[in-house]
Amino acid sequence: MTKIVCDCVDVEYTDIVEAVKKHGDNLDAIMDETEAGTVCEDCLEDDCDKVDIPLKIAIAQALKEV
Ligand code: FES
Repeated sequence: MTKIVCDCVDVEYTDIVEAVKKHGDNLDAIMDETEAGTVCEDCLEDDCDKVDIPLKIAIAQALKEV
């Protein structure tokens, strides 16, 4: 099942894993590359209910996997 991290630009958790492999925990670099969090910015809030995993939580989880 795909997990949406950013609804505005349709970024999935797997996209964040790939971005974390390149950029580590660098939020700005991950936002630049994926465009996640660059439109309404709601997914930057950990309590965002528009997405399955808000961006910062997705990054923290991906860091444990890579
Ligand atoms: S849900 Fe990510 S910028 Fe809108």
